[in-house]
Amino acid sequence: MTDTPLRKSLYLPTECEIISVTDLTPVEKLFRVRRTDGLPLGHLPGQFVQVSLLGWGEAPISVASSPTREGIFELGVRRVGALTSAMHTLQTGDTLGIRGPFGRAFDLSRLCGQDLILISGGCGLAPMRSLIQYCEDRPSDFGRVAILYGAKSPADRLFKDDLARWDASARFACSMTVDNISGGDCFSGSVGLITRLIPPLTFTPDTTIAAIIGPPAMYRAVIAELYKKGLSSSRIAVSLERQMRCGVGKCGHCSIEHLLCCQDGPVFWLNEIEHLRGAL
Ligand SMILES: Cc1cc2nc3c(=O)[nH]c(=O)nc-3n(C[C@H](O)[C@H](O)[C@H](O)COP(=O)(O)OP(=O)(O)OC[C@H]3O[C@@H](n4cnc5c(N)ncnc54)[C@H](O)[C@@H]3O)c2cc1C
Ligand code: FES
Repeated sequence: MTDTPLRKSLYLPTECEIISVTDLTPVEKLFRVRRTDGLPLGHLPGQFVQVSLLGWGEAPISVASSPTREGIFELGVRRVGALTSAMHTLQTGDTLGIRGPFGRAFDLSRLCGQDLILISGGCGLAPMRSLIQYCEDRPSDFGRVAILYGAKSPADRLFKDDLARWDASARFACSMTVDNISGGDCFSGSVGLITRLIPPLTFTPDTTIAAIIGPPAMYRAVIAELYKKGLSSSRIAVSLERQMRCGVGKCGHCSIEHLLCCQDGPVFWLNEIEHLRGAL
């Protein structure tokens, strides 16, 4: 059978070169990458790629940088198993395979002109960073942008330099919290669950959109707080994670009832999935 360009783009990895590797925490690294053919990745905030390494398999990883940062893209990777541990041994100049970008991105046309509340927990800041950088680079596209971030401890926070810059920027209203703090930690945010950051927010529900990315336990509690502030489920976007194989809607591994997380998501409007069993 002849390979059409579509088949190639879906199933064949493209070779990419690592430009730099930075430690984010002891278990998370940031990989700055470019396609060796010089073409842009062509992603939108919220999309993911399938990363492969010969002999180690493939895994879905969200793109952590905005498409407005041209020529490169970034992947924030937590070391959990076979592929991600192998990735953590890679250095500048090494190559990896990339399929994609895949999945449904944040709906930028609906976000445009709105005030935004961008809520992430733990590793969820990696995909959220793509949208935050987009807001940074297109300031006139959006109204007020609030960034809410929660981590286990000050040391567990990802992208500490970015967080400091966003916190200092007049463009963003940043609030951060950690579950635990110990004597030697230098941290000016609050201590407690991320839900505590929502009641102090002031916003107009009819002109505000919230986006949530984080560990599964976070969603219901955060959504409950947003409902209390009058935000409707059609104004809340959630990015969900499921175990994936193909990444392109063929194998069914990532199903949420009749939806496929890799294709219908990972970004969903809450009113599309809140009634589905096991979605949140
Ligand atoms: C859309 C999407 C975006 C993602 N973005 C990122 C990202 O930006 N950064 C990042 O570090 N990780 C991300 N992940 C998770 C990442 O894909 C898994 O950690 C990765 O597949 C682990 O591969 P491995 O070979 O290292 O681990 P394996 O050896 O395959 O597995 C290690 C352990 O992790 C579990 N696991 C594997 N995949 C998942 C999953 N999707 N959800 C829950 N548990 C899983 C396995 O069951 C096993 O217990 C994302 C996942 C999805 C679905
Ligand atoms: S990962 Fe194969 S259908 Fe979604």
